[in-house]
Amino acid sequence: MDSVKTKIMIVGFGVVGQGFFDLFHSKKESLGLNNVEITEIVDKKYGYIERPPIDLTEKINGKTDYPLIDPAKAIKNSDASIVCEFTWVNYKDAEPAFTHMKTALENGKHVITTNKGPVALRMDELKTISKKTGNDVLFKGTVMAGTPSFNIVKLIPGAEVLRIRGILNGTTNFILEQMSKGSDFGTALKEAQKLGYAEADPTNDVEGFDSAAKVAILSNYFGWKHRMSDVQREGIKNVSREEAAHGTKLLATISKTEASVAPLQLEDTDLLRHVNGVMNALEIETDSLGPIYTMGPGAGRKETAQAALTDLMEILNKN
Ligand code: HSE
Repeated sequence: MDSVKTKIMIVGFGVVGQGFFDLFHSKKESLGLNNVEITEIVDKKYGYIERPPIDLTEKINGKTDYPLIDPAKAIKNSDASIVCEFTWVNYKDAEPAFTHMKTALENGKHVITTNKGPVALRMDELKTISKKTGNDVLFKGTVMAGTPSFNIVKLIPGAEVLRIRGILNGTTNFILEQMSKGSDFGTALKEAQKLGYAEADPTNDVEGFDSAAKVAILSNYFGWKHRMSDVQREGIKNVSREEAAHGTKLLATISKTEASVAPLQLEDTDLLRHVNGVMNALEIETDSLGPIYTMGPGAGRKETAQAALTDLMEILNKN
């Protein structure tokens, strides 16, 4: 263990935490990460796991007898240099994830998160601490899972982003597609939950809170600074099967002057109308290229884990 150069701690070992653990181990060799290890895991239900065996996720169904430790305490005492925060989302005050991330930054660790709560609600505070401590906070997985989204603009230096339209919630897009094929809302939602797309509380998907959080994250990233509470929001509860079959999508629109999430019937010529199932897509309107598009899965175990792996490589390549 002492030859390990970079140590990673996982906080929160649910769908995303376990997905990242497995993806990390399956890609470790091809990415040349022989000196990088996940050395600690802390989770409210499973407890504190030190030097986890690589087949941990196969064994961990149900409870374990690892000691239960306060995650913030475990973060403070950890010698890991990177903390991956994968706990459940909370749109009231972003806790406990915010405290986990703050504690990690203040204790000299970089942070990777897929948790939309702290990034949508309290990014300014995190940025201030990150600047002060010189540690990074990366959050690719908060928008479109591992599919390139806001990070794609790094490939077009100088291009100014003028407006964004997008389908940012996999669960509702999946439900709308199922409905367009004749399924009822409840059955389609259950299926989305079974496939691991939906939030722990699916109201967040259905009522548009998840998309609104992503709108706030994108707005902040592009310097427009809409808060989540500024986003005009309507969910998909009132969309009929017929409307779903005629191209109604839960569309997010963001620019300096607008921030909204609403079900809208899109023209047949609109590329976003043809984005189906758990797929997400962004249309990014730029000054130099006009619109550019990115499309891919926006939710799922491995798909979200890919985002954290992307962030991990960014940190490792920088430091
Ligand atoms: N519940 C979210 C979705 C997960 O369906 O898009 C990814 O943020």
